[in-house]
Amino acid sequence: MKWKNQSAVQESWSGEISNKEQKEKAARQVSEMVKNGDVIGVGSGSTSYLALKAIAARVQKEGLDILAIPTSHEASLNCATLGIKTTDLINRRPDWGFDGADEVDAENRLIKGRGGAMFAEKLVMASSPKTYILVDGSKFVSRLGEKFALPIEVDPRALHLVETKLKDMMKTKLKLRMAKGKDGPVITESGNLILDMTLEETVDNDLENRLRSIPGVIETGLFIGYPVEILTV
Ligand code: A5P
Repeated sequence: MKWKNQSAVQESWSGEISNKEQKEKAARQVSEMVKNGDVIGVGSGSTSYLALKAIAARVQKEGLDILAIPTSHEASLNCATLGIKTTDLINRRPDWGFDGADEVDAENRLIKGRGGAMFAEKLVMASSPKTYILVDGSKFVSRLGEKFALPIEVDPRALHLVETKLKDMMKTKLKLRMAKGKDGPVITESGNLILDMTLEETVDNDLENRLRSIPGVIETGLFIGYPVEILTV
């Protein structure tokens, strides 16, 4: 039987997509990598959405049999409306994956999490032998933190503890991410809060470990040392 509600059939992106043409080119590049039988980690955000659309077009045209492992409700809904079958990390390991990023530096270190999905994005990336990072030219920075704050996912009970420890650790400004379309703070898909943290100093490779050593920090948007390949146009 078929569902009657619109969200089961109507794919959509929630707002305007910035640099859409460039993102579409990178999306087309990654769609060409798909092979029959692949299990693919599917990132979140507008670039990943465009990539998923390009992949769905190939799946339909060529009858490819693939499975996706989505990194958010957003990605999971898009897979459903685009007719891409899904699985999860409990059942399958991804052969490879793709995702977007908010910032990329010269050493391919990333800031992610504008969409709040960095926890699942990191789980899927850490499970995949390779992840293609699809970025338009605006994402390249000479210093991480140049354009975006670093999102820190925090257990709600630890909000004050984490804020205090972060301020003891480094010079920074912290802002609790507030929801749009709901009163109060953003609640992540794992039921946590997000603190957006300005990075005023150069990021060293150990920063992620130091941040995660604070009790109550669930995840950070720093992606350092993962097997990524940057795809751009
Ligand atoms: C989602 O939480 C993010 O990590 C996105 O992957 C990142 O913000 C890139 O988003 P766009 O592709 O929409 O620019």
